[in-house]
Amino acid sequence: MSAYQELKSALADNPKTWLITGVAGFIGSNLLEHLLKLNQTVVGLDNFATGYQHNLDEVESLVTGEQWARFRLMEGDITNLTDCQSACAGVDYVLHQAALGSVPRSINDPIASNAANVSGFLNMLVAARNATVQSFTYAASSSTYGDHRALPKVEDVTGNPLSPYAVTKYVNELYADVFDRTYGFKATGLRYFNVFGQRQDPNGAYAAVIPKWASAMIAGEPVFINGDGETSRDFCFIENAVQANLLAATAPEQARGEVYNVAVGDRTTLNILFDSLKASLTGIGCPYTELPVYREFREGDVRHSQASMEKAQDQLGYEPEYRIQEGIAKAMPWYRATVK
Ligand SMILES: NC(=O)c1ccc[n+]([C@@H]2O[C@H](COP(=O)([O-])OP(=O)(O)OC[C@H]3O[C@@H](n4cnc5c(N)ncnc54)[C@H](O)[C@@H]3O)[C@@H](O)[C@H]2O)c1
Repeated sequence: MSAYQELKSALADNPKTWLITGVAGFIGSNLLEHLLKLNQTVVGLDNFATGYQHNLDEVESLVTGEQWARFRLMEGDITNLTDCQSACAGVDYVLHQAALGSVPRSINDPIASNAANVSGFLNMLVAARNATVQSFTYAASSSTYGDHRALPKVEDVTGNPLSPYAVTKYVNELYADVFDRTYGFKATGLRYFNVFGQRQDPNGAYAAVIPKWASAMIAGEPVFINGDGETSRDFCFIENAVQANLLAATAPEQARGEVYNVAVGDRTTLNILFDSLKASLTGIGCPYTELPVYREFREGDVRHSQASMEKAQDQLGYEPEYRIQEGIAKAMPWYRATVK
């Protein structure tokens, strides 16, 4: 049995209370779904800045009434310390996901990104430390590797941040480190690499590449590739990210207070991604026949990204269950059913 399988049965036998910040968002709502299915008690905090009630409604439709009754939503803001304190009360494990994502958003409005991602993060650290929670796991980002070119990306070797968003996520790691040294409070960072899957928002200027392209293809609209299409990423299906969160939250003391890559260890170019999405749509009877439209490279984007998975494997027992094709095959029917 894998470490994850063992953990799931241990949690089902001995349920805990979890706080998910950003619960109405993409990653938060998927964490909620998995935890409720394991009969855990969950408190969710969200201000609905980029999250949606319909994500929570969908989770409600996927769990039993009894499981849903174990969820309590707090509408509130992580930039408000009192909201963070109320949310942390009586909680065993914190999964801190709330933030303003997207590199371009942070370039357009660095002050808003800093408020949520830095001040909000610090509030959550203080509130969780004061509430003496058992563990604190937070969403870090592969953007912290910045301009460092070496592949695969190894946790200890980072470059200069390329965007305000990357600065905010790097500052999270600095605060986490200082809270360990100063207060002995350990916060574990998960550097997500392009997570994708069901409930990732396909709309708006700041949508991520997979939902944006999938919805454009389904609607028969043009797909734009920034640059020559040879930019590459280590795309990580959401269920791998859920696994990493649960393993990190319950990891032994010596594995906490670290940062871990959360990805697969693969590298896929945008040109290959385009072909894969097209093939997946053809497979479900929704063929897309257009060619992609190439345009300028996007400011702040890293050229290549691929994670080393060694540290997460060795210290957390993380074993990604889905490679990109399997993830696309699981996510695409959701986009087909959801995108109008
Ligand atoms: N999706 C990815 O590929 C990826 C990659 C790297 C890091 N991350 C990080 O993972 C986390 C979750 O990302 P996601 O893709 O689910 O994004 P998302 O936008 O779908 O979810 C973020 C959630 O946080 C909430 N939120 C934002 N500001 C808040 C505030 N001030 N108070 C309370 N709630 C607030 C939003 O309403 C939303 O529900 C973020 O921290 C993001 O930076 C995501």
